[in-house]
Amino acid sequence: MGKKKSVLDFYKMKRDGEKITFLTCDDYPTATFAEKAGLDMLLVGDSLGMVVYGYKDTRPVTMEQMIVHAEAVRRGAPNTFVIGDMPFMSYQESVDKAVYNAGRFYKEANVDAIKLEGGRRVINQIKGIVDAGMVLMGHIGLTLLSSGQLGELKASGRTAKSAMELILDAKAIEEAGAFAILLEAVTPEVGKIITERSRIPILGIGTGIDCDGQVLIVGDMLGLSEAFTPKFEKKYASLSNDVTKAFREYIQDVKEEKFPEEKHVYKMEPGEREKLEKLISDI
Ligand code: KIV
Repeated sequence: MGKKKSVLDFYKMKRDGEKITFLTCDDYPTATFAEKAGLDMLLVGDSLGMVVYGYKDTRPVTMEQMIVHAEAVRRGAPNTFVIGDMPFMSYQESVDKAVYNAGRFYKEANVDAIKLEGGRRVINQIKGIVDAGMVLMGHIGLTLLSSGQLGELKASGRTAKSAMELILDAKAIEEAGAFAILLEAVTPEVGKIITERSRIPILGIGTGIDCDGQVLIVGDMLGLSEAFTPKFEKKYASLSNDVTKAFREYIQDVKEEKFPEEKHVYKMEPGEREKLEKLISDI
């Protein structure tokens, strides 16, 4: 098992051109597999609202749910850099609320960093959290929250005007003290410009090859969900098929009395059955 990477390691990886590997992670078993495989970072993302809870979008996700999942991921991946994602309305309202909820992730789930969505609009919250001594990842582009506002999935940075908004947001987030920025569904041209202009690592999802690292949503990349997934998700497994197949085989085995077999049961000790039969016959 490797040593847990730190923010300084991520800066060095950027400088050396070594790509950072990053996945979302929602639960204990997946965290153990991710750590064993050697992922650099894990995000307990609010996408768990859809992936784990079956919500239509991320808005209903609460701090309580995020903390429970972050604690489980921390237990499963004690030597991996784990980031807690601030859910909708856990930071927008005020700097005090943002600092309080970010602190909850640290104190209750022992995360290494927190992430929040938004650029200059939430810059005071970003500064407040960093000033309180916490490590923060920014997140701009087509965020899960903004896709709810826009009602559709569309990449940002398609025009010079929209690209400039992203570049200015990234600059402001870096200047506010974030250790990294996640760019979601940003055109690859703009992803490359922001990556080259930033001193901090830029992680991409749907943002092309030039970012300092890549992240995917674990349920989507494992093919756990049968729901729509955006074109930037790549499926590395189709677990929904495997799991449904396993459930069908189990149903059939139980119905046909093929399960359990001798090897699946704990037998009584020799001679005990006869003793029991005698005892039973006396009652
Ligand atoms: O919540 C999440 O899973 C995210 C992804 C887009 C990485 O922020």
